[in-house]
Amino acid sequence: MSRVTLSRYLIEQTRSHNTPADLRFLIEVVARACKAISHQVSKGALGGVLGSMETENVQGEVQKKLDVLSNEILLEANEWGGHLAGMASEEMDKAYQIPGRYPKGAYLLVFDPLDGSSNIDVNVSVGTIFSVLRCPNRNGQSGDLGEEAFLQPGTEQVAAGYAIYGPQTMLILTLGNGVKGFTLDRELGSFVLTHDNMRVPETTQEFAINMSNQRHWEPPVKRYVEELLAGKTGPLGKDYNMRWVAAMVADVHRILTRGGLFMYPRDSREPEKPGKLRLMYEANPMSFIIEQAGGASTNGLQRILDIQPTSLHQRVAVFLGSKQEVERVTAYHQE
Ligand code: AHG
Ligand code: MN
Ligand code: MN
Repeated sequence: MSRVTLSRYLIEQTRSHNTPADLRFLIEVVARACKAISHQVSKGALGGVLGSMETENVQGEVQKKLDVLSNEILLEANEWGGHLAGMASEEMDKAYQIPGRYPKGAYLLVFDPLDGSSNIDVNVSVGTIFSVLRCPNRNGQSGDLGEEAFLQPGTEQVAAGYAIYGPQTMLILTLGNGVKGFTLDRELGSFVLTHDNMRVPETTQEFAINMSNQRHWEPPVKRYVEELLAGKTGPLGKDYNMRWVAAMVADVHRILTRGGLFMYPRDSREPEKPGKLRLMYEANPMSFIIEQAGGASTNGLQRILDIQPTSLHQRVAVFLGSKQEVERVTAYHQE
């Protein structure tokens, strides 16, 4: 059987689901940028890409060289094509303006250029996460694109995906009709459809959480994790296994492949911040993908995709993965 490349998949989506040509182009450009990032990541010490910068991002985190490089690769790849009205990123304080010399387009691209950057220097999987929104009608308004244009609930996403730079480089994509996985064929330089219909099993015996924060968790999370740890003789009646890669991309990828539950709850370390992960470029795209694969995603109280964002870099608690467990931990929050 002939191989289905990402380009062919996208063309077929246009025929079957009317995917607009400019959205198709956008996805191809993002995929190309991910290939370039994958190439840089794989050079490691030989390419001088390991280690940190002397700068901090808007979150107050020290930027790694690869955070900055990946951000630049995505900006440069996407600014000239005429498909975007603006971009926003974990590594940029404010919305990125398309330079005046280029035409503007209908979409907004929001991304975490390098997810799991604490893994870079230890040669463990990292990734790129992206979310595509339509740019609201600006009613003839000219001038800079403000942050407000981006503040749309996750249900408004027209596409979302991530690239994982692991033993294989893969691109996982949803256009709102299921989840497809493509593996990078390094000899040909193209993404090839290898995972046609990714589904998250409804039940699981595997969970992911950073246990070192246990003492800071809220009571519903403490209770739930205690029950997981109690295993077969506890109230849940089965033994659970635990995994934590410290890159959301890698943890979500495992869940998409074999099920599981991912949790990054809010905790009392920084009580004014609802969790660590960012809504616009981590939680929303991942929630869209997980829901499209039959899983669920909440912040403990409500569906993440329904949250109305109030700022570009806002944080959110995340419980996502196999439906049954997401529903259980959400119910504990509501009790
Ligand atoms: P980033 O590298 O983009 O800042 O994201 C890291 C995130 C996420 O990928 C991961 O799940 C989490 O941080 C890990 O946090 P801990 O180091 O607290 O375990
Ligand atoms: Mn991240
Ligand atoms: Mn990042």
